[in-house]
Amino acid sequence: MEDSIAPPKIIENINVDSLAIGFDMLSDPLTGGLLRMLAASKPAGNLLELGSGTGLATAWLLDGMDRTSRLTTIDNDPQLLEILTRHIGDDPRLEVVCSDGDEFIKSIARQKFDLIFADTWAGKYRLLAETISLLKVGGLYIIDDMLPQPNWPVGHADKVAELILTLDRHPDLNIVKMSWASGIIIGVKSSPDDRTLNPID
Ligand SMILES: C[S@@+](CC[C@H](N)C(=O)[O-])C[C@H]1O[C@@H](n2cnc3c(N)ncnc32)[C@H](O)[C@@H]1O
Repeated sequence: MEDSIAPPKIIENINVDSLAIGFDMLSDPLTGGLLRMLAASKPAGNLLELGSGTGLATAWLLDGMDRTSRLTTIDNDPQLLEILTRHIGDDPRLEVVCSDGDEFIKSIARQKFDLIFADTWAGKYRLLAETISLLKVGGLYIIDDMLPQPNWPVGHADKVAELILTLDRHPDLNIVKMSWASGIIIGVKSSPDDRTLNPID
C-alpha cells in the first residue's frame, strides 16, 4: 500500500499562488486527504477551520463535504485570504472570516461544530478548552505539525510536548496520535463539557 492521495484540481493553482507570495506554511497532501475523508464522515456537518492560510486545507475539506455541510474558515491575514477567496470563495458552503483567532473563538462560544481543524495558535496553543467546548459530542478535533518541523521556532518543541500531554489527559476527548504526515492528532469529543452546569444526579 502507498500513501497516494489524488488532490482536488484546485490545489495545484492554490499552491502556485501561495509559493509566489512566499507562503510556506501549507498543509501537506496527506493531511489534506485525511481532512477530506473526515469531512465526508459528517453529512450536513458544521465545520470550522482555524488558520485558513491560502485555503489549501479549506479546499480539501470542501472536497469531502456534502452539499448541505457548512465550513467557516478564519485567518487574520487579508493577503492570504485574497488567494483563498479568489480560488474557492464562490462556494456557497463556505464562510470566510478575517479576524484575530482568539477574538473569533470567544465570539462564537454558543455555536457547536462537528469538526474543527485547528491550524493556528488560537484553538491549539491558546484557548484550547474554549475550542474543545465548541465541539458536539462525537465531533472531531484535528491538529497537524505535531512531529518536529524545520520551521519550528526555538522553544516550540516544549509547547508541542505540553499540548500532547494536555490532550492525552483531556477528560472530554478520546484521542489518537499518528506519527504520519506532519504528525496528526485526532480527538473525538466523548462527553459533554457542561457536566458541571447540568450535573447528573
Ligand atoms: C499553518 S498556517 C495555516 C495553513 C492552512 N490551514 C493550510 O492548509 O495551508 C497558520 C495560519 O494562521 C494564521 N494566523 C496567525 N496568527 C493568527 C491570529 N492571531 N489570528 C488568526 N489567524 C492567525 C496565519 O496567517 C496562517 O495563515
